[in-house]
Amino acid sequence: MTSLLVTGRTHSCGALRADHVGNDVVLLGWVHRRRDHGGRIFVDLRDREGLTQVVFGPDIDAAAHEAADKLRSEFCIGIAGKVIARGDNANPNLPTGAIEIEASTLEIFSQADTPPISVADDDRIDTGENLRLRYRYLDLRRPSLQKNFITRSKIAFVTRRTMTEQGFLELETPYMVKYTPGGARNFLVPSRLNPGTFYALAESPQIFKQLFMVAGFDRYFQITRCFRDEDLRNDRQPEFTQIDVELSFATPERVFEVMERLVANLWREVLGVEIPTPLPRLSWAEAMGRYGSDKPDRRFGLELVELTAQVAGSGFRVFEQAACVKGITVPAAHAAPLTRSQLDKLTDFVKKRENGGAKGLAWARIGDDGSFVAPFAKSMSEAAHKAIVAQMGAQPGDVLLFIADTWHTVHQVLCALRLELRDLLQLVPADARRWEFLWVTDFPLFEQRDDGTLVAAHHPFTSPRTDQLELLHSDPGKVLAQAYDLVLNGNEIGGGSIRIHRSDVQARVFEILGLSQAAAQQKFGFLLEAFKYGPPPHGGIALGLDRIAMLMTGATSLRDVIAYPKTQKGQDLMTLCPTPADDAQLEELFIRLRPLPGAKEGGESTEPSA
Ligand code: AMO
Ligand code: AMP
Repeated sequence: MTSLLVTGRTHSCGALRADHVGNDVVLLGWVHRRRDHGGRIFVDLRDREGLTQVVFGPDIDAAAHEAADKLRSEFCIGIAGKVIARGDNANPNLPTGAIEIEASTLEIFSQADTPPISVADDDRIDTGENLRLRYRYLDLRRPSLQKNFITRSKIAFVTRRTMTEQGFLELETPYMVKYTPGGARNFLVPSRLNPGTFYALAESPQIFKQLFMVAGFDRYFQITRCFRDEDLRNDRQPEFTQIDVELSFATPERVFEVMERLVANLWREVLGVEIPTPLPRLSWAEAMGRYGSDKPDRRFGLELVELTAQVAGSGFRVFEQAACVKGITVPAAHAAPLTRSQLDKLTDFVKKRENGGAKGLAWARIGDDGSFVAPFAKSMSEAAHKAIVAQMGAQPGDVLLFIADTWHTVHQVLCALRLELRDLLQLVPADARRWEFLWVTDFPLFEQRDDGTLVAAHHPFTSPRTDQLELLHSDPGKVLAQAYDLVLNGNEIGGGSIRIHRSDVQARVFEILGLSQAAAQQKFGFLLEAFKYGPPPHGGIALGLDRIAMLMTGATSLRDVIAYPKTQKGQDLMTLCPTPADDAQLEELFIRLRPLPGAKEGGESTEPSA
């Protein structure tokens, strides 16, 4: 028998206000909290829209009151009753706080065991993340996570509308694709019908969207899943979602206009925030020079200052002998926490970086009288003190921090130090809803590996700047690309480029990448062939939807905006995957496993344990 309540829902649990007083209503949801007060039972009823207080009493309805005695956290129930005003007991913290429901009917749809994680203590949840991922469906009941996913859904909706309005077609591309080397590591999928061969899971729709341009679709977008077998971090998942975009007859300018319209609509419609456009831009070279980063956080200052010329001939060997010297000025107003012991800690910080740190951190303090106070002050000429102070615009009370090393190390370390100082000196208040967007343009086309070989900085289909085609022959390492990233508050939220559509240019790029003609034919032959049939000039971009959702919701991890995420080890703790395949499955695929490293004969389970 269908429940009358289920079919009769009148409102969500977030809808009722003072002007509903007197209405008869039916609400459905979960028991968030239950309290017994002097013979009356109060239940906060929850659904995805909010909470409503429901009262059961012997004077309201004796049967319902008696049934309510059995209610516990997370029971799924329906109630019918009358909306009454809470008067002096109104709860100003709850949108529905002006009213409550006097319940005349209660139906228990299902009971709940005591939940292993508390849904109601959302704001001070201290349960370990592993337990929360194991019971993800309960974790997802928490109002804060529900809010994140409502936001995520709005982001997808506004994206579809905005891109459609701008003339883009939503088209799909395959997930199971040809393996192509380079770029991210791929996941492989064995083909049963073609024993011994594998598909790759697409790391992005890149080649297919370019072929859509060759096909004449003109403007394409897709909200699509991408798969990359990478080491995971808070802002990386092995499966993530891109807002993928490609347009024909594109210039970087056109791409920026399209994406700025999307950003403006998203922030206005999802957050109610006006983002002024056009968004600011910096070349890659300027971003690196001023922030040491191609994704600078520009919500605070502390820019890097070039000092190599100022310290030449200064007498201080550490600086004189280095290829590059740069500094950061911490203004007096923020410098108080930089005590001697704190500076020692920062010295440790710059020495212990992931990819080899700096050899040390030099610091100076400007005295009230303008004097240059530093452990190394005596080893350095006074003229150099003055030149440094002038170049850095240093004022009394300021603390100056210096790194001397290779260009690469100086920028990498000062970038990390700048972010460390942001957090240490609280230069960006945690609750500040500030949105510093930035286009970073003119990336190098290639990056040099340690062994001297060149690899594509973005991907091998990225076009060099058209004024630099000559350089592609004479000095390829110096060529700049028509590539751009979109950065928000220090996070890379998107990246793209104008593509190569000339087969001679593409052939030269493959050659520089060390791909022989035969190898290029074998790997990308279908693309090169397509480019023989009138490809339009084209370009595009992909935004990381998960990262955008993370930043818009104020979450600190992608796991708070991806419904069923993987752990650091790439595991799903709810379904317990990945799992070993059984012998019959492997046999069908003609796959034999090698013994796992360190495993005893017969193999050892790699199954995750809860
Ligand atoms: P790219 O590799 O820069 O470009 O990816 C585009 C954007 O996707 C997001 N992103 C990720 N988000 C979560 N987890 C990950 N593992 C992850 N990797 C990337 C980032 C990034 O800016 N085909 C090109 C785009 C193009 O040229 O049009 C591409 O995939 O926010
Ligand atoms: P030293 O001459 O090695 O005693 O170093 C003098 C000061 O310079 C110390 O405070 C070191 O931490 C600092 N220092 C050493 N090497 C570097 C470097 N490469 N860059 C910046 N400071 C350094």
